[in-house]
Amino acid sequence: MYFIGIDLGTTSVKIIAMDHLGNIVKSINKEYPIFFPNPLWSEQNPEDWWTQTINGLKVLLEGIDSEKVKAISFGGQMHGLVMLDREDKIIRPAILWNDQRTEKQCKFLNENIGKNRLSEMTGNIAITGFTAPKILWVKENEPENFNKIRRIMLPKDYLAYKMTGIFATDVSDASGTLYLDVKNRIWSLDMLEIIGVNETQLPKLYESYEVIGSIKPDLASELGLKDDVKVIIGGGDQAVAAIGGGIVKHHSCSLSLGTSGVVFAPTDRFIIDEKNRLHSFCHANGKFHVMGVTLAAAASLKWWVEFINKSNDFDYILSEAKDAEIDDNVFYLPYLMGERTPHNDPNARGTFIGMDMTHERKHMTRAVLEGVAFSLRDTFEIMKDMGIYISDISINGGGAQSKLWCEIIADVLNVNVNKVNTSEGPAYGAAILASVGYGLFDTVEDACETFIKITETIEPNKERVDLYNIKHEKFKQIYPAIKGLFKTLTIKN
Ligand code: XUL
Repeated sequence: MYFIGIDLGTTSVKIIAMDHLGNIVKSINKEYPIFFPNPLWSEQNPEDWWTQTINGLKVLLEGIDSEKVKAISFGGQMHGLVMLDREDKIIRPAILWNDQRTEKQCKFLNENIGKNRLSEMTGNIAITGFTAPKILWVKENEPENFNKIRRIMLPKDYLAYKMTGIFATDVSDASGTLYLDVKNRIWSLDMLEIIGVNETQLPKLYESYEVIGSIKPDLASELGLKDDVKVIIGGGDQAVAAIGGGIVKHHSCSLSLGTSGVVFAPTDRFIIDEKNRLHSFCHANGKFHVMGVTLAAAASLKWWVEFINKSNDFDYILSEAKDAEIDDNVFYLPYLMGERTPHNDPNARGTFIGMDMTHERKHMTRAVLEGVAFSLRDTFEIMKDMGIYISDISINGGGAQSKLWCEIIADVLNVNVNKVNTSEGPAYGAAILASVGYGLFDTVEDACETFIKITETIEPNKERVDLYNIKHEKFKQIYPAIKGLFKTLTIKN
């Protein structure tokens, strides 16, 4: 039997077929465009997601026995606002997780409604990427679109809706809307009133491993699938990636070094940082998690290598950095896209500081790798303050391909950095959720224990850990010292 995992990412949809032993039998990727109609805006067309998902499924199913496909599930980019009208037509392009247009709406929510009230209702505070401020933005700036709304959904829920005709979402993805009462896993009616949305405009809530229905018969026949293929709702990409890396237990932790960098820790019960610096969300295994996000993680390295150094040779530029001394004075703040954790500041910007005439590219490359690691450590320290003690992390994402970066992470965080036998992240996690929803396992934990094994461990080096403790203390002084400048230095928005 086969289980299909669909990861609806920001640049492409990745689709895998996994067999009942957890082996990936086939994997494909289909890209779609992203639009930046304004410097702070980031949008995609949900129809592109759907077209490419269907194209991808057709390629995936060529050459495998499609009669053996039993269930499909999803992981998806979170927070995106998808709105449909009465005829189920897309009202406007989806506003994505990395869109920064909602500073004003966040200010209203955090200051007028108040962070304490928001946190009581939802477990979180307003962040520019979240869905609720986007809805307020549409209400204020595009009232004609706001008045047309019949259904509001998250990106992966659009795929599930097109596939089954069922209007559903799951609690892990819904946690990133800022209108879910995360602790009780229900919509927050108080918050819906504040943003002017009615519960009937929202999908029914499920746990991520639950079946919402079966694939529509006409679609099943177009794809050559049986029409009893079950559709399991899946979850937000971070929770589903954690499942794909086996991160389901309290005191375990995953670190994703993708475009953004995410430190993710499952918790058995709902807990919250008193200053709301971390997101407190539902996990995809029926429990909870906390997470912090560095918006430009691998994006910082990509920017440095491709945009600044005009190179594609990541290996060469990284090999230079290996020779740069670590007791050096150059620091980099990775705030190219503003920052979420711990500063929640859309105006923060990337910064190099500390160079003198002896510095070369290798020092600055190392500073980029370290700056991202220091920012991830900021999240890690908040977790420690909350009583979450972590000795091992499971690393994933494109940046994890660099041994040097993994070593830096091990030394900066003073943890063992583990790699596991699967590297497909959310797509694999989605396939696991499909297998659990189908009934192959009783729990998500059972599935993870059966399929996921550690293949490599990078241990921290005591001498470097000591040095990085000193360097991180210095790193932490930079942002407070210059934060007022980011806005005053702006010449052009
Ligand atoms: C999580 C987040 C990103 C997006 C896109 O809070 O914003 O992980 O889901 O991948």
